[in-house]
Amino acid sequence: MPSLLILGYGDTHYTDRNPRRLFNYAKESGFEAERRDYSEIRGAPDFEGETIKVMLFFPYTFWNENCEVPEDTKLYGTSKRSYELLREFFLEVKGALQQRYASQQLQYVIPPESAALDRDKIAAIQRLKKGGVPTSELVSYQKLDDILHQISSERGVFVKCRYGAEGKGIMLLQESGWVTNYKVEGATLTNYGIYEQWVFTDITGRRDLLEQLLEQEVIVEKEIVVPEFFEGKKFDARAYVINGQVPHFFIRVNERHKVVTNYSQGAQVVHHPQTSLPPELIVRIREEAVKSAWAFSSNFLGVDIMVDSCPDGIKVVEVQTFTDFPDIKCFDLAKYLVSNQSGLFL
Ligand SMILES: Nc1ncnc2c1ncn2[C@@H]1O[C@H](COP(=O)(O)OP(=O)(O)O)[C@@H](O)[C@H]1O
Ligand SMILES: [Mg+2]
Repeated sequence: MPSLLILGYGDTHYTDRNPRRLFNYAKESGFEAERRDYSEIRGAPDFEGETIKVMLFFPYTFWNENCEVPEDTKLYGTSKRSYELLREFFLEVKGALQQRYASQQLQYVIPPESAALDRDKIAAIQRLKKGGVPTSELVSYQKLDDILHQISSERGVFVKCRYGAEGKGIMLLQESGWVTNYKVEGATLTNYGIYEQWVFTDITGRRDLLEQLLEQEVIVEKEIVVPEFFEGKKFDARAYVINGQVPHFFIRVNERHKVVTNYSQGAQVVHHPQTSLPPELIVRIREEAVKSAWAFSSNFLGVDIMVDSCPDGIKVVEVQTFTDFPDIKCFDLAKYLVSNQSGLFL
């Protein structure tokens, strides 16, 4: 049986449930498995096997202490420094593991060199494009009006913090109005709490607030206009790519006026095979998800895909290196990972 080292603790019992389940299933299945937090690598136990499979989970401890609310910008998701800290952190993790297990072979399910990459939305889109994956369309601009000129009656523009997640730190500019889910305090954009709902505020015409965000690190994209599969609603698909296969996907459906389809912001989740999406669309979703994981050289990736009303319009919006696992009643991803079927830890 292979040896498996699972790294990273959640910051609550709930956020810890995925690595915990994976560890328990691995032990039950007879793996030589250990789990530790990242700070414990130096004192991590010996393994008998020659090859050690390493499974990285989100480094909550490090992230909460160093990156969540940045000192430099104060505005959620806009700190390049936070991103660089995370990237450097994973390089250090790799170095520490190499040192600790110098005589053994380490095989990473998620490559540490690119474990932070999905957090930089611009770099991630560029990496996907290079891999031939259709992505959302970036808007290039020098000044605010260049962005406003891109807005048409059919399509608005998204301005998103470049290093954000969970649907936080977003502006949508449409002909009918502008909204943001940063907190608006008088003339200033600020943050809601980490686990709060980031609700949208109407800021139509507030160029001052838009200017404030544009001074920070952002990504500006054309709006993807989702066809009316579900009346009055928009949706995206989350496909799980494990070892080059898509064993499961679900869709997240939210009211159009709620702008984002993140589960953390209240979207309804519908699992395969109940999505009622046309079979040919499901095939496309699977194909682009697999290509995305290939582009990221990863054996484990969550891929978020939207459908656009333009012909053949399917677009990867972002990928998730440290994706949450689906509800185990619908698909037990941790169990799948240790199974022969996934082939991940053989
Ligand atoms: N270009 C876009 N067009 C339409 N909807 C978008 C676009 N970009 C983002 N969204 C919506 O906003 C959500 C959050 O954006 P995303 O880029 O995934 O950032 P996050 O990392 O915060 O999840 C997406 O799940 C999607 O519902
Ligand atoms: Mg997202």
